[in-house]
Amino acid sequence: MAFADLYDIKGTDPAWTVPQDFTAVFNWEFAPERSRLLGLYERGKTMQWNATDRLDWSLELDPEDPQQLPPDALPINAAPFFQNLSRQEQMTIRRHHQAWSTSQFLHGEQGALICAAKIVQQVPDLDAKFYAATQVMDEARHVEVYKKLLEKFGLAYPMTAPLKQLLEQVLRDPRWDMTYLGMQVVIEGLALAAFARIRDQAQNPLAAAVNAYVMEDEARHVAFGRLSLRQYYPELSQAERDEREEFLVEACYLMRDRFDAVELWRHLDLPVEACLDHLHNSGALASFRTRLFSRIVPTVKDIGLWGAVARKGYAQMGVLDFANVDLEAMAENDEKVASAFDARRRHVDATIAAGA
Ligand SMILES: [Fe+2]
Ligand SMILES: [Fe+2]
Repeated sequence: MAFADLYDIKGTDPAWTVPQDFTAVFNWEFAPERSRLLGLYERGKTMQWNATDRLDWSLELDPEDPQQLPPDALPINAAPFFQNLSRQEQMTIRRHHQAWSTSQFLHGEQGALICAAKIVQQVPDLDAKFYAATQVMDEARHVEVYKKLLEKFGLAYPMTAPLKQLLEQVLRDPRWDMTYLGMQVVIEGLALAAFARIRDQAQNPLAAAVNAYVMEDEARHVAFGRLSLRQYYPELSQAERDEREEFLVEACYLMRDRFDAVELWRHLDLPVEACLDHLHNSGALASFRTRLFSRIVPTVKDIGLWGAVARKGYAQMGVLDFANVDLEAMAENDEKVASAFDARRRHVDATIAAGA
């Protein structure tokens, strides 16, 4: 079956075009050579992996609960109207919500692929171009794995409007740092938190492993944003930094609200008002919505966009406490968890071989 046939919303556009207006920069000095960025580039090269053989694609998803997540991973699970539906109807909604959510991962990954390629062209420093080139390859692999996973769902959704809006904004912006802010800081920072939930809660081994391996790469991408931007922002004027802080806060609201999944409930003919009321007033999404910012807030502080605008915005969102999270420890843990998945796979393979 062609991938286009998996879209449950008929008439989904086959392509999306975003006009570009930016300057491609060649660097004849082959500089600078910031040791931490070059170190990250070395890691980017040595930690490449092949999705064809690192994952066991013979594993299937569960037809009733594809990724085998806890019931509350569906944020309307405890809503009274949902509880009154038949088991069959509940299963259908669960499957669609997981496919919708994985589709957003897939589309976000293609966005990251395009953004990383834009950074290669646009960023003035060669060390950053080097690293971004490894990210382009990483993102191609991420598109590959989420596409394959969605094929196992047999169901896909188009990109949600808020994600499209943010991507279009950063791709059209001619300033190189804005691509980083939108992608490496906001979208990837938030993706790490969303992937972590599947990695840590999915009982389906394929779905969990896909997210663990993607996270191992994403942690480097967030570090790339930090290392590239933390020298740049102190050089800007306060007014220029304020403008970026305003952008960040708005982008964070936009990305947080995309998890409301309004278009999904509408498509499934569910009572949209009752869904939103449950999401916002029952506490079903509250801790997830907060955790989404665990990687963004410390990054924003680290790159020096920590003026009154950002602090006020994050205080209003109730996520200011994440400012002191140890990002390097989190990234190290992401790598450890990915290695644990490798070890488990080797153990299963060895057991099967011994049995044969
Ligand atoms: Fe990615
Ligand atoms: Fe990424």
